Amino acid sequence: MLVLGVESSCDETGLALYDTERGLLAHALHSQIAMHQEYGGVVPELASRDHIRRAIPLLQQTLADAQVQAADIDAIAYTQGPGLAGALLVGASVACGLGLALDKPVLGIHHLEGHLLSPLLASKPPRFPFIALLVSGGHTQLMRVDGVGRYELLGETLDDAAGEAFDKSAKLLGLGYPGGPAISRLAEFGDPAAYQLPRPMLHSKNLDFSFSGLKTAVLTVVKQHSANICEQDKANIARGFVDAIVDVLVAKCMTALKQTNLKRLVIAGGVGANAQLRAALNAAAAKRRYEVFYPELQFCTDNGAMIAFAGAMRLREEPGAARKEYGFGVRPR
Ligand code: KG4
Ligand code: ZN
Repeated sequence: MLVLGVESSCDETGLALYDTERGLLAHALHSQIAMHQEYGGVVPELASRDHIRRAIPLLQQTLADAQVQAADIDAIAYTQGPGLAGALLVGASVACGLGLALDKPVLGIHHLEGHLLSPLLASKPPRFPFIALLVSGGHTQLMRVDGVGRYELLGETLDDAAGEAFDKSAKLLGLGYPGGPAISRLAEFGDPAAYQLPRPMLHSKNLDFSFSGLKTAVLTVVKQHSANICEQDKANIARGFVDAIVDVLVAKCMTALKQTNLKRLVIAGGVGANAQLRAALNAAAAKRRYEVFYPELQFCTDNGAMIAFAGAMRLREEPGAARKEYGFGVRPR
């Protein structure tokens, strides 16, 4: 079965073709980061317009790279939500329009399910069950995953998502958008002893997170420096921030594994690309003989491959899940 995946929930247009026999055949991505950079964040209207411009050429490129015809597609999976309403509507329109034209069934995919299953695209995928840490710009969740569609939420953020904390703290330091990679690079030059920032909920017994206090702590130290802040101060603050957030994420993952008695941990979502987080998780897991799995770097942030794959997995579980019903709705929340 050949599944086309369409992702357009935020600032990346992603198209991909996944074949249940042959694996991922091709994928194409356009990132709008450069376009949004001058505004310091994603401008929803511009995002929607750009998805419209990019979707069909990316589809053509994906078909050409995979050396298949549009008529060979068996089903079309698109991101139904969560995300920006206008951006989601573009992907849904493309998927449903194409489904109608080709007389093929379509199915809406939950964006987070795409992220959650993305580590299974790797050459050595984890076996079920596992604990998943989902850390993206909009979400921070710990889940127990027993199979496709069998997810139990163990804990989540009570306020800001981890990616949001990265982005907002980076903004306070005058770094560009998206802030995650920028603050992470700067932190490499910082002195770990310069700032001990709070580690919210580190010792709470539950698996919930809270990051808004950490962001406020960054704001407070930035204000203390007022206009005189130098590059080394910024690097030290970045280091204090990264160390604090990584400590909390690692500790909660270890608690989740201990509480559930599971041995495998899967990291998904944009923050999963973070080098400091990966190093700390690997060290903590090795000590306790846990295995950690990450998506390939290119599949950590938003992409079409994870949506095509999630669609294919869902159809394997429930062949009737894709329908020839083209009156679509999106779910921004
Ligand atoms: O999963 P994603 O692409 O989109 C959402 O579904 O939200 O995640 C984007 C988030 C942004 O907040 C971005 O700053 C963060 O992931 N991010 C990183 C890194 N790369 C992306 N955060 C920390 N370190 C990184 N290397
Ligand atoms: Zn995402």
